[in-house]
Amino acid sequence: TGTDIVVVGSINADLTAKVQRHPEPGETLLGSGGAVSAGGKGANQAVAAAQLGAKVTMIGAVGTDQMAGEALTHMRQSGADMSAIATVDGPTGLAIITVSDDGENTIIVIPGANASVTAEFVDQHSQLIENSGIVLLQGETPADGFERAVDLSQGRVVINLAPVVPVGHAQLRRADPLLVNEHEGALVLDMLGTPATTSDPQGLVTELLEQGFASVVMTLGAEGALVGIPGQLTAIPTPKIQAVDTTGSGDAFAGALVAKLSEGAGLIEAATFAARVGAYAATKPGAQASYPTLTTELPSTTH
Ligand code: RIB
Ligand code: NA
Repeated sequence: TGTDIVVVGSINADLTAKVQRHPEPGETLLGSGGAVSAGGKGANQAVAAAQLGAKVTMIGAVGTDQMAGEALTHMRQSGADMSAIATVDGPTGLAIITVSDDGENTIIVIPGANASVTAEFVDQHSQLIENSGIVLLQGETPADGFERAVDLSQGRVVINLAPVVPVGHAQLRRADPLLVNEHEGALVLDMLGTPATTSDPQGLVTELLEQGFASVVMTLGAEGALVGIPGQLTAIPTPKIQAVDTTGSGDAFAGALVAKLSEGAGLIEAATFAARVGAYAATKPGAQASYPTLTTELPSTTH
């Protein structure tokens, strides 16, 4: 049971190339892989939360191409409600991903159908959003749809502004938490017109809290995460793992975080669980293909 989660966000097909190292501009490299798998930050987060037992509805769009089927394979099994996913003329969102031997990735997203998740589109699901306990958003769908979803929400708004795109400041400030990595945190401060005076995570979280966020969760990769509420910063440890593919690890973290929050957990407990889920996802190839279910044995955090 718990609170209902609505994810308003992107659905992509991920085309992944494995490379020893990332190419330099102008360079040609030989790679391997080339398979298409299910991705998109919105869909990834929805699938992660649903597979962990949360009640999730996805609001988004796919195209009329063959990629649409690929993009939804895991969601079909996840238990997420897919009735608010539209099929629109044209291509499905496509992510072109390279993963190097050290597990690090680069990603280019071509929005395709995700571009149709506008304010008008979101309005068609206004009741769903109004009645949900948590609305979860990312930065891969149009800003006006994002802003409308926040405006409609009468519950908790969780924002993973990845990538950092211009969105209304008032809507952004409703994030509780704002979920970002260090790089994104600094870009959000730039966007709010108060550039960071530090690159240190504790300083960044403090400066974000000074901008009026009720809470901030900053993911720090192998260093875990930092949970900030005004006056209190808490370091969240993460299990030591061998990273195979970090694609969508942050999304696994986000989905797990909201799944726990929807059960009534506090932010520190939720982030501690999310760090284990994110670490687990990094040990397997792909995004959604690497997400745990309730019966998966997660790596544990050793102190
Ligand atoms: O966060 C990882 C995701 O980013 C990938 O699945 C890709 O589709 C892009 O949206
Ligand atoms: Na993975």
